[in-house]
Amino acid sequence: MSLLELEGVAAAYGQSQVLWNIDMAVERGAAVALIGRNGVGKTTLLNAIVGVHKLMAGRLRFDEADLTAMPAHGRARAGIGFVPQGRHVFAHLTVMENLTVGLAALAGRKAVKDSGIASHIFDLFPKLTEIRHRKAGLLSGGEQQQLAIGRALAGQPRLLLLDEPTEGIQPNVVQQIEQALRRIRAELGMTIVIVEQYLDFAWSFAEAYHVMQRGRIVRSGSTRTETADEISHLVNI
Ligand SMILES: Nc1ncnc2c1ncn2[C@@H]1O[C@H](COP(=O)(O)OP(=O)(O)O)[C@@H](O)[C@H]1O
Ligand SMILES: [Mg+2]
Repeated sequence: MSLLELEGVAAAYGQSQVLWNIDMAVERGAAVALIGRNGVGKTTLLNAIVGVHKLMAGRLRFDEADLTAMPAHGRARAGIGFVPQGRHVFAHLTVMENLTVGLAALAGRKAVKDSGIASHIFDLFPKLTEIRHRKAGLLSGGEQQQLAIGRALAGQPRLLLLDEPTEGIQPNVVQQIEQALRRIRAELGMTIVIVEQYLDFAWSFAEAYHVMQRGRIVRSGSTRTETADEISHLVNI
């Protein structure tokens, strides 16, 4: 059984439908890249998976449980972690306080007993230790992104969704974030769905891809048997 399964998912903003009939399965331990030009519905799809955007139709199963009717906090507790586009750290809270917010996803799970921010988060992002007492609003974009990823990991998710984690970040910091994501896969065995504009990184990081156009998945496949060049015309950034 796949860890995450979407079946016939549709979503709308008011009267305006933006997702149609999305079928997607994410295997345990896999990394999946979701690609497509701006406005095709990638963010809406991730928001629908985490429960911040209501489904208009379709079903969502996570770890064999039907979560279609479950609100966002329940899905977080079930083990779905999320790093939203634009990071959305709490500007007036310190780095430590932001990380502590991430622990809320542990409520009701056995791991809460040994709660506290897991040391591997500071190991992945040593900078966060240094700046732990600083207000998040004062951090650089790269530092905020590291914090947003750390906050999601604090909830000890089994699936991590990341929406354009390198968007608007300086090139040298992009590499640090990519490196951290590789370690999250390798060392934590995390299952990951990543929205990514850079096909090179998507290809080297993920083994499966889905291309979206105008609210639909128009092509899916393996990054191991196809090249990014073969699908770049569908992305057309
Ligand atoms: N809050 C909103 N209200 C109305 N339409 C929206 C809203 N957010 C996004 N959209 C529309 O939904 C479509 C998909 O947007 P989005 O999911 O953000 O795409 P992507 O992440 O691929 O850039 C776009 O046409 C966008 O204009
Ligand atoms: Mg988006």
